[in-house]
Amino acid sequence: MTQVIQPTPLAARKSSALTGRERVPGDKSISHRALILGALAVGETRISGLLEGEDVLNTAKAMQALGAKVVRTGEFAWSVRGVGVAGFAAPKQALDFGNSGTGCRLVMGAVAGCPIEATFDGDASLRGRPMRRIVDPLALMGARVLDSQDGGRLPMRLEGARDPLPIVYRTPVASAQIKSAVLLAGLAAPGVTTVIETEASRDHTELMLRHFGAQLVSENEGRHGRKISLTGQPELRGADVVVPADPSSAAFPIVAALIVPGSDIVLTDVMTNPLRTGLFTTLREMGASIEESEIRGDAGEPMAQFRIRASNLRGVEVPPERAPSMIDEYLVLAVAASFAEGTTIMRGLQELRVKESDRLEATAAMLRVNGVKVEIIGDDLVVEGTGHVPGGGLVATHMDHRIAMSALVMGLASDRPVTVDDTAFIATSFPDFIPMMRRLGAEFA
Ligand code: S3P
Repeated sequence: MTQVIQPTPLAARKSSALTGRERVPGDKSISHRALILGALAVGETRISGLLEGEDVLNTAKAMQALGAKVVRTGEFAWSVRGVGVAGFAAPKQALDFGNSGTGCRLVMGAVAGCPIEATFDGDASLRGRPMRRIVDPLALMGARVLDSQDGGRLPMRLEGARDPLPIVYRTPVASAQIKSAVLLAGLAAPGVTTVIETEASRDHTELMLRHFGAQLVSENEGRHGRKISLTGQPELRGADVVVPADPSSAAFPIVAALIVPGSDIVLTDVMTNPLRTGLFTTLREMGASIEESEIRGDAGEPMAQFRIRASNLRGVEVPPERAPSMIDEYLVLAVAASFAEGTTIMRGLQELRVKESDRLEATAAMLRVNGVKVEIIGDDLVVEGTGHVPGGGLVATHMDHRIAMSALVMGLASDRPVTVDDTAFIATSFPDFIPMMRRLGAEFA
C-alpha cells in the first residue's frame, strides 16, 4: 500500500528579483487522460511532455495493471499500447492512486464500462475524499459498488457493467472528474451518453476523445453550461499526444514573479485552454503584467509563452461562475491577494472543501498564521491585502501539494520567512518545483 513518507519541512525567505526562462512540467489533467485513452485505444499512443509526477505515475501503473502496455521511452516520453474500448482485464491487486482524485475517479469510469472487478485505493488524503459523486452515475450505467468504507470512500471494490447503459446525466456540481468518469464509461455503452453541466468544467476529456477518433458533440447549455453527447462503442485509435505545460503549476512561479519586486520571468508552452485560465484573467484584473506570445495549439489544446513582470496588485471580486476555470488556483490567488492593496473577495468556493485537503480552511489558516487578515463567510473567502505580508508562520500542508507550493511562494516576498511542515507532496504534481524556483532566484532554507 501507499508508503509512509517522512515529513520534510522547508522555509522560503525574501528573495531578490526572480529572472529566467523555464518550462513547468506537463499538464496533469492531460497526462492522466493521455494514459487512460491510450490504454483504451487500439494501437500505439506516443506521449511527449508527460508529467512524471507521482499522481500520473500511479495512473500509468493502473493502466498496466488493467492490461495495457505502458513503457517510458525517454525523458517525459511514453508509449502506450491499449486494449481497446471495454477491453480492460481484472487487475490482480488493488489499484493504488496515491494522492490523486483525478486518476482514481477517471479510472473508475473507464473500469465501469468493463465486465471486471477492481479495488480502488489511495493515501489518507484520497481515502477521505467523496466517491459517491462518481459511483452514483456509474451505478445508473450498470456498475456496482461491492464494498466501500463509510458512505462510499476508499478502499472501494467496483464491479463494472457487463452491458453498460448509455445515460443522460446532469452533474450535481461543476466537475470535470464526474463528467469524465461518465464519458469514459459511456465509451463502452451502445448509443449516446450525454452529460449536462450547468457550469462548464475543463474539457480535456472531450478534446482528447475526439483526437482518438470518438464521435462527440459539445453544445452550449444555458449561460455557462455545456451539453456533451458521446456516441458509444467507437474504435479508439492510438494517437500522438503532446502535453503542454500545466497552467496550474505555472501559477506558482507566475504569482512569485508578480510579488517579488523587480522580477521578470518567461514561462514557455503554458496551456491556455479557456476553461483553465480563470487565474490569469483574475490576476490581470488585479493589475498583473502577464504578456502572452507565440500562441499555438496541438490536438485542440492552445498554448502560449508567458512573460511575467512584478506588479502592484489591487484587490478584486472573483465571481462564482469563474470557479471551475481556476478551481485549483485559489490557494495561490489568496497569496497574491495578500500582497495586493485592498480587499479580494472570492465567491462560491464550496468545492474547495473536498480537494486534497479542505482548501478553504487551509487557505485561511495559511494566511492567518502569516499575519494576513482573512475571513470565510459562507462559501466565500475574503482577504484584506495591505501590500505586504508579515510572514513568520509555520504552515500545515495537510498532504496537499498546492498548500505547500503556495506557502513557499508567499515566503519569497514576506517580511519574515514562511515555513511549510512537509514538502513531500509537491512531488505529486511538480517534482521539479524547488530546483526550478531556485534557478529563478528563489531562496529556500
Ligand atoms: C481535474 C478536475 C478538477 C481539479 C483536479 C483535476 C481533472 O477536479 O480540481 O485537480 O483533471 O479533471 P473536479 O473536477 O472534481 O472539480
